[in-house]
Amino acid sequence: MLKLTSIDLKKVKTETLIIPVCEDKTIHDNPTISLLIKKAKQLKEFTGKKDDEVVFYDLSKIKAKRVMFLGLGKLEKIDPEALRVFAGRAVKKCMKINLPEALLAVPCGKNIKIDVASALEAMMEGAFLGNHIFDKYKKEKKIKPLKKIDLLVKPDEEKKYSGLPTRISTVCAGTILAREWVSTPSNDKKPELFAKSIATLAGKEKLKVSVLNEKELKQKKFGALLAVAAGSQSKARMVVLEYSPKGAKKTIALVGKGVTFDSGGINLKPTGSLEGMKADMSGAAAVAATLITVARQKLDVSVVGVIPIVENMPSGSACRPGDVIKSYDGKTVEIGNTDAEGRLILIDAISFCIKKYKPHTIIDIATLTGACVIALGGKIAGVLSFDDKLAKAIELSGKKTHERCWRLPMPDDYKELLKSDLADIKNISSSRWGGAITGALFLSEFAGKARWAHIDIAGPAYIKKGHGYCSAGGTGFGVRLFCDLLDKI
Ligand code: BES
Ligand code: ZN
Ligand code: ZN
Repeated sequence: MLKLTSIDLKKVKTETLIIPVCEDKTIHDNPTISLLIKKAKQLKEFTGKKDDEVVFYDLSKIKAKRVMFLGLGKLEKIDPEALRVFAGRAVKKCMKINLPEALLAVPCGKNIKIDVASALEAMMEGAFLGNHIFDKYKKEKKIKPLKKIDLLVKPDEEKKYSGLPTRISTVCAGTILAREWVSTPSNDKKPELFAKSIATLAGKEKLKVSVLNEKELKQKKFGALLAVAAGSQSKARMVVLEYSPKGAKKTIALVGKGVTFDSGGINLKPTGSLEGMKADMSGAAAVAATLITVARQKLDVSVVGVIPIVENMPSGSACRPGDVIKSYDGKTVEIGNTDAEGRLILIDAISFCIKKYKPHTIIDIATLTGACVIALGGKIAGVLSFDDKLAKAIELSGKKTHERCWRLPMPDDYKELLKSDLADIKNISSSRWGGAITGALFLSEFAGKARWAHIDIAGPAYIKKGHGYCSAGGTGFGVRLFCDLLDKI
């Protein structure tokens, strides 16, 4: 669907040419495009300001049916993310008026401080992701995705970057897979179903797939995981995906929280907090989609994905505040609050993963705490790790992909807040404050000496209102981040 092209605008007919326009500087060195921009800027209503737009039809100089100009604002504000948003916006505009294809002009020339590869990557990501609509639950499919999106580049670039469209499409297809899982309502992704859906898709790639059912989980003593699942009619699952290419030297493990609905359990959440909780399996979706993507890309590191899946529900069989349970690694946990369930399923998954795979690095990703959303807002994930290098690498990949990550501290003395009078540890802190930190410290007690990091995506996993290249619903946060990160750690 994505393609690079270096066609001559004067000769080849296209439906729609879309040109990003800078307010204060030239960002195109194609003379035909420069001429068109000059013409557009003669209009009073178009200056190239951010979000400005104007459309011309049947221009004499070129063979495009329509030329759409979209403002990017001032040059100093134009970074790869601005290009992603531009491409997403451009594609969405075409979809809205039912066009089948679009040709996007890629900015170039001495003023643009972004290297060609990064500009192309960003525009392709924005275009591919912006072209996604999740309308499975609509009877009438009013809007259709574009069939073809071309990027206009110079002839030498068309050759040089010919591998990019496939690579970017593969990674973004992974993001979309995660988005769709997250956006799917909880009644259609109960643990057995969600596990099956992952296993089916993973089975089509070169991945080893195993799914532990309730009986096996009981036999293997996944006590914390089973305690969370106890209130639901749906049984727990643990999906393990292994990608092991020949000759790979190290194994990276990814662990993703898969709570298909988090009601809070006996500590039932109030109205207003329940509504978004179908997205509480976003970590699981990111890990499963990353493994599938890694297999499609034939990466040369071994990756294992460990995905605990449960539904957190209140009922006569649910676990209670005050209960003490025994985790997979043998430590006992006092349940202070049944709504702090993510950390319970994660500790069993983390201990199991370390025991079985002895990974070089282990990263868990989870919609773990509301406190992290309070700290960093809805668009930035928290990173917590004792390993400076690993935390830095995650932050850098976050910067590159604009799946932004910000490190939070893990002070040793905060561990005291997790003390239990009765058991080895308690699943909630004795303090109201610093919940993202105490959540991570709880997990760290089960990561032993492993090189480990935790990514809290409670904020960015889901958006209520669409923007740029992502519609309302699951964002697929984590997939592009991991794909960038895996061969750098
Ligand atoms: N799934 C929630 C965290 C969450 C909150 C995700 C908001 C997305 C948006 C998690 O299981 C939870 O309920 N955490 C509690 C922990 C508390 C009881 C210690 C929280 O953050 O309030
Ligand atoms: Zn919860
Ligand atoms: Zn939760």
